[in-house]
Amino acid sequence: MEKRQELYAGKAKSVFTTDDPDLMVLEFRDDTSAFDGKKMEQLDRKGMVNNKFNAFIMQKLADAGIPTHFVKLVSDNESVVKRLEMMPVECVVRNIAAGSLVRRLGVEEGMELTPPTFELFLKNDALGDPMVNESLVETFGWAKPDQLARAKELTFKVNEVLKKMFADAGMLLVDYKLEFGIFNGEVVLGDEFSPDGCRVWDKETREKMDKDRFRQGLGGVIEAYEEVGRRLGIQF
Ligand code: TMP
Ligand code: ASP
Repeated sequence: MEKRQELYAGKAKSVFTTDDPDLMVLEFRDDTSAFDGKKMEQLDRKGMVNNKFNAFIMQKLADAGIPTHFVKLVSDNESVVKRLEMMPVECVVRNIAAGSLVRRLGVEEGMELTPPTFELFLKNDALGDPMVNESLVETFGWAKPDQLARAKELTFKVNEVLKKMFADAGMLLVDYKLEFGIFNGEVVLGDEFSPDGCRVWDKETREKMDKDRFRQGLGGVIEAYEEVGRRLGIQF
Protein backbone atom coordinates (compact mmCIF):
# COMPACT_ATOMS: atom_id res chain seq x y z
CA MET A 1 0.00 0.00 0.00
CA GLU A 2 1.33 3.39 -1.02
CA LYS A 3 0.72 6.70 0.78
CA ARG A 4 -0.31 9.43 -1.69
CA GLN A 5 -1.47 13.02 -1.29
CA GLU A 6 -2.72 14.81 1.80
CA LEU A 7 -6.50 15.00 1.74
CA TYR A 8 -7.06 17.00 4.88
CA ALA A 9 -5.15 18.33 7.88
CA GLY A 10 -7.08 18.58 11.13
CA LYS A 11 -5.81 20.15 14.35
CA ALA A 12 -3.87 17.08 15.50
CA LYS A 13 -3.98 14.59 12.62
CA SER A 14 -3.49 14.63 8.85
CA VAL A 15 -5.23 12.29 6.45
CA PHE A 16 -3.65 10.90 3.27
CA THR A 17 -5.09 8.95 0.38
CA THR A 18 -3.46 5.67 -0.65
CA ASP A 19 -3.42 3.60 -3.83
CA ASP A 20 -6.46 1.74 -2.39
CA PRO A 21 -9.58 3.97 -2.59
CA ASP A 22 -11.01 2.25 0.52
CA LEU A 23 -7.98 2.97 2.72
CA MET A 24 -6.33 6.10 4.12
CA VAL A 25 -3.26 6.85 6.23
CA LEU A 26 -3.84 8.79 9.46
CA GLU A 27 -0.80 10.72 10.63
CA PHE A 28 -0.82 11.66 14.31
CA ARG A 29 1.11 14.92 14.72
CA ASP A 30 2.60 16.45 17.88
CA ASP A 31 0.21 19.42 17.55
CA THR A 32 -2.08 19.77 20.53
CA SER A 33 -5.14 21.98 20.49
CA ALA A 34 -7.84 22.95 22.92
CA PHE A 35 -10.77 25.33 23.07
CA ASP A 36 -11.63 24.70 19.40
CA GLY A 37 -8.11 25.50 18.25
CA LYS A 38 -7.67 28.70 20.29
CA LYS A 39 -4.84 27.10 22.33
CA MET A 40 -2.22 25.32 20.22
CA GLU A 41 1.17 23.82 21.11
CA GLN A 42 3.53 21.11 19.95
CA LEU A 43 4.16 18.43 22.54
CA ASP A 44 7.09 16.12 21.96
CA ARG A 45 6.17 12.41 21.50
CA LYS A 46 2.44 13.12 21.40
CA GLY A 47 1.88 11.86 17.83
CA MET A 48 3.58 8.57 18.62
CA VAL A 49 1.84 8.14 21.97
CA ASN A 50 -1.65 8.83 20.60
CA ASN A 51 -1.09 6.65 17.53
CA LYS A 52 -0.11 3.64 19.65
CA PHE A 53 -2.75 4.39 22.28
CA ASN A 54 -5.44 4.56 19.61
CA ALA A 55 -4.27 1.34 17.93
CA PHE A 56 -4.45 -0.52 21.25
CA ILE A 57 -7.93 0.74 22.13
CA MET A 58 -9.34 0.23 18.63
CA GLN A 59 -8.09 -3.38 18.67
CA LYS A 60 -9.72 -4.00 22.08
CA LEU A 61 -12.99 -2.53 20.80
CA ALA A 62 -12.85 -4.65 17.63
CA ASP A 63 -12.25 -7.73 19.82
CA ALA A 64 -15.43 -6.78 21.70
CA GLY A 65 -17.41 -6.75 18.42
CA ILE A 66 -17.44 -3.00 17.76
CA PRO A 67 -16.82 -2.17 14.08
CA THR A 68 -13.93 0.31 13.75
CA HIS A 69 -12.04 1.91 10.88
CA PHE A 70 -8.65 0.82 12.26
CA VAL A 71 -6.63 -1.52 10.03
CA LYS A 72 -3.01 -1.45 11.22
CA LEU A 73 -0.13 0.57 12.59
CA VAL A 74 2.39 1.41 9.87
CA SER A 75 4.90 3.60 11.71
CA ASP A 76 5.38 5.36 15.06
CA ASN A 77 2.93 8.08 14.10
CA GLU A 78 0.88 6.59 11.25
CA SER A 79 -1.95 4.07 10.99
CA VAL A 80 -3.95 2.72 8.06
CA VAL A 81 -7.71 3.12 8.41
CA LYS A 82 -10.76 2.46 6.27
CA ARG A 83 -12.07 5.49 4.43
CA LEU A 84 -15.43 6.33 6.01
CA GLU A 85 -17.99 8.91 5.06
CA MET A 86 -17.97 10.78 8.38
CA MET A 87 -21.02 12.05 10.24
CA PRO A 88 -20.13 15.63 11.33
CA VAL A 89 -21.29 15.00 14.90
CA GLU A 90 -19.48 14.07 18.09
CA CYS A 91 -21.04 11.53 20.45
CA VAL A 92 -20.16 12.19 24.10
CA VAL A 93 -20.83 9.83 27.01
CA ARG A 94 -20.20 10.91 30.59
CA ASN A 95 -19.86 8.66 33.64
CA ILE A 96 -18.77 11.48 35.97
CA ALA A 97 -19.55 15.22 35.72
CA ALA A 98 -16.71 17.39 34.38
CA GLY A 99 -15.96 19.95 31.69
CA SER A 100 -18.78 21.60 29.81
CA LEU A 101 -21.48 19.71 31.73
CA VAL A 102 -20.31 21.32 34.97
CA ARG A 103 -20.21 24.77 33.34
CA ARG A 104 -23.62 24.40 31.67
CA LEU A 105 -25.60 22.89 34.52
CA GLY A 106 -23.72 24.15 37.55
CA VAL A 107 -23.35 20.63 38.97
CA GLU A 108 -20.32 19.64 41.00
CA GLU A 109 -17.28 18.21 39.21
CA GLY A 110 -16.88 14.57 40.20
CA MET A 111 -20.59 13.81 40.65
CA GLU A 112 -21.36 10.27 39.51
CA LEU A 113 -23.83 10.22 36.59
CA THR A 114 -26.29 7.31 36.75
CA PRO A 115 -27.20 6.32 34.12
CA PRO A 116 -24.36 7.77 32.04
CA THR A 117 -25.38 10.71 29.83
CA PHE A 118 -25.31 10.92 26.03
CA GLU A 119 -24.81 14.24 24.22
CA LEU A 120 -24.30 15.29 20.62
CA PHE A 121 -22.16 18.17 19.37
CA LEU A 122 -21.80 19.49 15.84
CA LYS A 123 -18.21 19.40 14.58
CA ASN A 124 -17.74 23.06 13.77
CA ASP A 125 -14.86 25.01 15.34
CA ALA A 126 -16.09 28.37 14.01
CA LEU A 127 -19.33 27.85 15.96
CA GLY A 128 -17.53 26.35 18.98
CA ASP A 129 -18.92 22.82 18.48
CA PRO A 130 -22.50 23.66 19.53
CA MET A 131 -24.63 21.07 21.27
CA VAL A 132 -27.28 19.56 19.00
CA ASN A 133 -29.86 16.78 19.31
CA GLU A 134 -31.41 13.90 17.36
CA SER A 135 -34.04 16.14 15.77
CA LEU A 136 -31.45 18.61 14.44
CA VAL A 137 -29.26 15.78 13.13
CA GLU A 138 -32.22 14.44 11.13
CA THR A 139 -33.49 17.79 9.84
CA PHE A 140 -30.05 18.95 8.67
CA GLY A 141 -29.20 15.53 7.25
CA TRP A 142 -25.99 15.06 9.28
CA ALA A 143 -26.98 11.40 9.67
CA LYS A 144 -30.05 9.25 9.06
CA PRO A 145 -32.07 8.43 12.21
CA ASP A 146 -31.18 4.72 12.09
CA GLN A 147 -27.49 5.54 11.65
CA LEU A 148 -27.54 7.91 14.60
CA ALA A 149 -29.36 5.31 16.71
CA ARG A 150 -26.65 2.79 15.83
CA ALA A 151 -23.89 5.30 16.67
CA LYS A 152 -25.53 5.89 20.06
CA GLU A 153 -25.81 2.15 20.70
CA LEU A 154 -22.13 1.66 19.80
CA THR A 155 -21.10 4.64 21.95
CA PHE A 156 -22.67 2.99 25.01
CA LYS A 157 -21.18 -0.39 24.07
CA VAL A 158 -17.75 1.26 24.04
CA ASN A 159 -18.50 2.49 27.58
CA GLU A 160 -19.12 -1.04 28.84
CA VAL A 161 -15.78 -2.22 27.42
CA LEU A 162 -13.61 0.75 28.33
CA LYS A 163 -15.06 1.67 31.73
CA LYS A 164 -14.11 -1.80 32.97
CA MET A 165 -10.70 -1.77 31.25
CA PHE A 166 -9.77 1.55 32.86
CA ALA A 167 -11.20 0.55 36.27
CA ASP A 168 -9.20 -2.70 36.25
CA ALA A 169 -6.08 -0.55 35.68
CA GLY A 170 -6.84 1.81 38.60
CA MET A 171 -8.45 4.62 36.58
CA LEU A 172 -11.84 6.24 36.11
CA LEU A 173 -13.12 6.84 32.57
CA VAL A 174 -14.89 10.14 33.27
CA ASP A 175 -16.14 10.94 29.75
CA TYR A 176 -15.18 10.56 26.10
CA LYS A 177 -16.02 11.68 22.59
CA LEU A 178 -16.47 9.36 19.61
CA GLU A 179 -16.97 10.03 15.91
CA PHE A 180 -18.62 7.64 13.49
CA GLY A 181 -18.85 7.23 9.74
CA ILE A 182 -20.33 4.92 7.14
CA PHE A 183 -18.40 2.18 5.34
CA ASN A 184 -20.30 -0.05 2.87
CA GLY A 185 -23.58 1.03 4.51
CA GLU A 186 -22.42 0.10 8.02
CA VAL A 187 -21.92 2.54 10.94
CA VAL A 188 -18.26 2.27 11.95
CA LEU A 189 -16.22 3.95 14.70
CA GLY A 190 -13.75 6.43 13.19
CA ASP A 191 -11.36 9.19 14.28
CA GLU A 192 -9.33 8.22 17.38
CA PHE A 193 -9.61 7.19 20.99
CA SER A 194 -6.77 8.73 23.00
CA PRO A 195 -6.36 10.92 26.11
CA ASP A 196 -6.96 13.88 23.76
CA GLY A 197 -10.65 13.02 23.47
CA CYS A 198 -11.52 11.58 26.86
CA ARG A 199 -11.12 12.34 30.55
CA VAL A 200 -9.30 9.85 32.75
CA TRP A 201 -8.68 10.24 36.48
CA ASP A 202 -6.62 8.18 38.87
CA LYS A 203 -9.15 6.08 40.81
CA GLU A 204 -7.68 6.86 44.25
CA THR A 205 -6.37 10.43 43.99
CA ARG A 206 -8.66 11.61 41.14
CA GLU A 207 -5.61 13.23 39.56
CA LYS A 208 -6.30 14.26 35.94
CA MET A 209 -4.41 12.14 33.39
CA ASP A 210 -5.83 13.50 30.10
CA LYS A 211 -5.97 16.64 27.93
CA ASP A 212 -7.37 18.67 30.83
CA ARG A 213 -3.70 18.86 31.93
CA PHE A 214 -3.06 20.83 28.72
CA ARG A 215 -6.30 22.85 28.83
CA GLN A 216 -5.65 23.86 32.44
CA GLY A 217 -1.86 24.32 32.08
CA LEU A 218 -1.09 21.64 34.69
CA GLY A 219 2.02 20.34 32.87
CA GLY A 220 3.16 16.73 32.52
CA VAL A 221 0.70 16.18 29.67
CA ILE A 222 2.47 13.49 27.67
CA GLU A 223 3.88 11.88 30.81
CA ALA A 224 0.28 11.46 31.99
CA TYR A 225 -0.84 10.00 28.62
CA GLU A 226 2.06 7.52 28.81
CA GLU A 227 1.16 6.57 32.36
CA VAL A 228 -2.45 5.85 31.30
CA GLY A 229 -1.08 3.70 28.47
CA ARG A 230 1.44 1.96 30.70
CA ARG A 231 -1.30 1.00 33.19
CA LEU A 232 -3.39 -0.41 30.33
CA GLY A 233 -0.39 -2.47 29.15
CA ILE A 234 0.58 -0.41 26.09
CA GLN A 235 4.25 -0.45 25.01
CA PHE A 236 5.37 2.90 23.61
P1 TMP B 1 -16.77 18.68 27.17
O1 TMP B 1 -16.83 18.49 28.66
O2 TMP B 1 -15.84 19.78 26.74
O3 TMP B 1 -18.12 18.78 26.56
O4 TMP B 1 -16.10 17.37 26.58
C1 TMP B 1 -16.56 16.07 26.92
C2 TMP B 1 -15.55 15.05 26.46
O5 TMP B 1 -15.50 14.99 25.05
C3 TMP B 1 -14.13 15.35 26.91
O6 TMP B 1 -13.48 14.12 27.21
C4 TMP B 1 -13.47 16.00 25.71
C5 TMP B 1 -14.22 15.38 24.56
N1 TMP B 1 -14.40 16.31 23.43
C6 TMP B 1 -13.44 16.38 22.45
O7 TMP B 1 -12.45 15.65 22.49
N2 TMP B 1 -13.64 17.24 21.41
C7 TMP B 1 -14.71 18.04 21.32
O8 TMP B 1 -14.81 18.81 20.36
C8 TMP B 1 -15.72 17.96 22.35
C9 TMP B 1 -16.94 18.81 22.31
C10 TMP B 1 -15.51 17.10 23.38
N1 ASP C 1 -13.10 20.89 21.84
C1 ASP C 1 -11.97 19.98 21.95
C2 ASP C 1 -11.14 20.20 23.17
O1 ASP C 1 -11.28 21.18 23.91
C3 ASP C 1 -11.11 20.06 20.74
C4 ASP C 1 -10.66 21.46 20.44
O2 ASP C 1 -10.81 22.33 21.25
O3 ASP C 1 -10.13 21.70 19.38
O4 ASP C 1 -10.33 19.39 23.45
